[in-house]
Amino acid sequence: MSHIQTISVGLGDRSYDVLIGDGALTESVKRLPALIPRGKTIIITDETVAPLHLATIIKILADADIAARAIVLPSGEATKSFGQLETLVNAFLESGMERSDAVIALGGGVIGDLVGFAAAVTKRGINFIQIPTTLLSQVDSSVGGKTGINTRHGKNFVGSFHQPCLVIADTMMLETLPDRERRSGYAEIIKAALIGDYDLFDRLEAAGAHALSGDTLRDAVADAVSFKAQIVADDEREQGVRALLNLGHTFGHAFEATAPKDIIRHGEAVAAGISMAFRYSVHLGVCPSKDADRVEAHLRTIGLPDGPKALAYSNWNTADLVAKMRDDKKNSGGRITLVLARGIAKAYIESDTSEDDLAKFMETRL
Ligand code: NAD
Ligand code: GLY
Repeated sequence: MSHIQTISVGLGDRSYDVLIGDGALTESVKRLPALIPRGKTIIITDETVAPLHLATIIKILADADIAARAIVLPSGEATKSFGQLETLVNAFLESGMERSDAVIALGGGVIGDLVGFAAAVTKRGINFIQIPTTLLSQVDSSVGGKTGINTRHGKNFVGSFHQPCLVIADTMMLETLPDRERRSGYAEIIKAALIGDYDLFDRLEAAGAHALSGDTLRDAVADAVSFKAQIVADDEREQGVRALLNLGHTFGHAFEATAPKDIIRHGEAVAAGISMAFRYSVHLGVCPSKDADRVEAHLRTIGLPDGPKALAYSNWNTADLVAKMRDDKKNSGGRITLVLARGIAKAYIESDTSEDDLAKFMETRL
């Protein structure tokens, strides 16, 4: 029988818990009245999640004597916009939300990032609770306080750090998740393992395709959250070690930004990006090629792209991709910063990348 795991994100007086497991929502009932002291809240969700899970959440809140009204936004990345930010901020202000009130983000990373940012800027910061419903949001985006929206200049280019006051990652909610979304979210679990948790990678590799479900997945969610919680506690504002969480993301964001909208899922781009990071590390002579082979073999077993050639788009242009990589938020002094690896679970930050060499290497892999 599964049980609920509680992982604390240690940030002094802004510390909070992440509840993980089948039934975490029911478990959370006793905590909610303290977080929503005036007994009323707003749940923000999307059009896909609302018919599947909204009624359950409203019932759980009612059991805790909390009245909730819902705002249902369109599903998809386009919702992380200035327009929807304004909608939410106005809704929070019109319903008289105070700083000690908490609103609830019910959905994947899109809803979590948008609601978190709207909460951050309303009255200079009201509270919010994350109820992540995708695997990606349970293992990554709901934890750590990065919030934001997209602009025409780039994804997540407007945002803030604003930590939630509770994260409820009920793994039962993943039962309604399409397989493609599940695999996409799994990429962030592999990412955590490859950065610095060798035992986790070893277990996932041994489980093969079974890693995508059951107890193996639930334990992996908890391990990935625990890994991220430690990094966030050490470096909340990404001044150093937190940048490691971008393994696969500099390449991945470039793939996502270059391909036509909605063809590639975020996790698929990250998986292809992880393969690129490992292969580039091999190219630089810092990583054994057998480690890159193992990483790619596991990605294939899971049904994730093991490189850009396996993505659902192929019309790449190296110069465009490198230009996107140059726009990355991690860069400084105009140089591309990459997260590379000296092997499995040995990621490091490389801020002295030669663009020429990188472009030549990329040509060979596209
Ligand atoms: P998403 O929120 O778009 O969800 C993916 C799809 O699954 C959507 O269509 C959604 O409606 C649907 N869905 C959600 N839960 C479901 C469920 N239980 N059953 C069935 N369908 C469900 O995307 P995502 O992959 O969760 O998140 C991607 C976003 O997260 C991106 O905007 C990315 O920038 C952001 N992100 C943020 C961080 C961070 O640290 N803040 C980290 C990683 C990614
Ligand atoms: N997803 C990367 C981070 O939270 O820092």
